[in-house]
Amino acid sequence: MSAHDDHTPAVIEEPIANPGLPEHLPRPTDVDEAAAKRAERQVATLFGLSSVFAVLFCVAYFTLNIGDDPTVFLGLGASTVGLGACLGAALMCIGIGAIQWSRKLMSDHEIVEYRHPAASSEEDRAEAVASLMTGIEDSGIGRRPLVRNSLLGAMGFLGLPAIVALRDLGPLPGDKLAHTVWKKGMQVVQDVDGARIKPSDMEVGQLVNAEPAVFFPEGDQEAEYEGTALLQAKAKAAVILVRMNPDDLRNKRSANWGVEGILCFSKICTHVGCPISLWEQQTHHLLCPCHQSTFDLADAGKVVFGPAGRHLPQLPLAVDEEGYLIATSDFHEPVGPSYWERG
Ligand code: FES
Repeated sequence: MSAHDDHTPAVIEEPIANPGLPEHLPRPTDVDEAAAKRAERQVATLFGLSSVFAVLFCVAYFTLNIGDDPTVFLGLGASTVGLGACLGAALMCIGIGAIQWSRKLMSDHEIVEYRHPAASSEEDRAEAVASLMTGIEDSGIGRRPLVRNSLLGAMGFLGLPAIVALRDLGPLPGDKLAHTVWKKGMQVVQDVDGARIKPSDMEVGQLVNAEPAVFFPEGDQEAEYEGTALLQAKAKAAVILVRMNPDDLRNKRSANWGVEGILCFSKICTHVGCPISLWEQQTHHLLCPCHQSTFDLADAGKVVFGPAGRHLPQLPLAVDEEGYLIATSDFHEPVGPSYWERG
């Protein structure tokens, strides 16, 4: 590499002796220290304004709600306009400041760089470092702490919008995932047609996909859940019923939560939440098709294989006065992936 300017004495043979560069003329800021100071203040002001707009972005984020004033400008809402204008102005000020800095205060000497072999020699590297140091010196960053510090401040404030926007990853679900719509006395019905189920309707070895009866309002009864709320409630409350020989059940508490060998478990895999219903009658194993987690339903839904971190939650059952299966409570623990229950 050969850098050719007033600061680099090493000049090698040039393929074109005079490429026709105009004579270098000094700028006002090169010869007048007052002009240089003025330019410095101008640049610092722009960097300072960038900081202000970054802060205004944060203020707009917290004070303007999505949906308020839906058509402030070109059909865009106040929140969109406020956030966009502030972030745009912050970036623009920092950009204009950098341009002014380079135009008025940095060195404006023409620099020519020639093609060279891909591998640099030690000498070239030393020369590159020297050029870099010269560039830093030319930029005046060491001599102009006002510019340097205001730029550092502006860059720091520019990170704020990104950090504040992380809030949109929320809100955290709180305890919403810890409960389902199941409650004492709610009937367990077929998930397709809402048909009520008696123990005698199921044979040993059979698996039935089921849901709470609340999702199947009768006659002119008003639906308790609709739209997104219905989908969310259904996703959490989905269960399977399995009928096993009571003698095969190895966990006493689990067996006591059943009726005549019929047990009810959450249908949501405790690994990352796939719906499960691959049932092996002989082994009493329930297999998740996503990553092959396997649960032993004869042993309280214990994990016997795969990545799931905990057993399948079980819903305690009883029968009502008409002999239909009902829940005796909600699940006693959160359903779904293990991370839902943290905290
Ligand atoms: S979601 Fe069931 S094993 Fe991964």
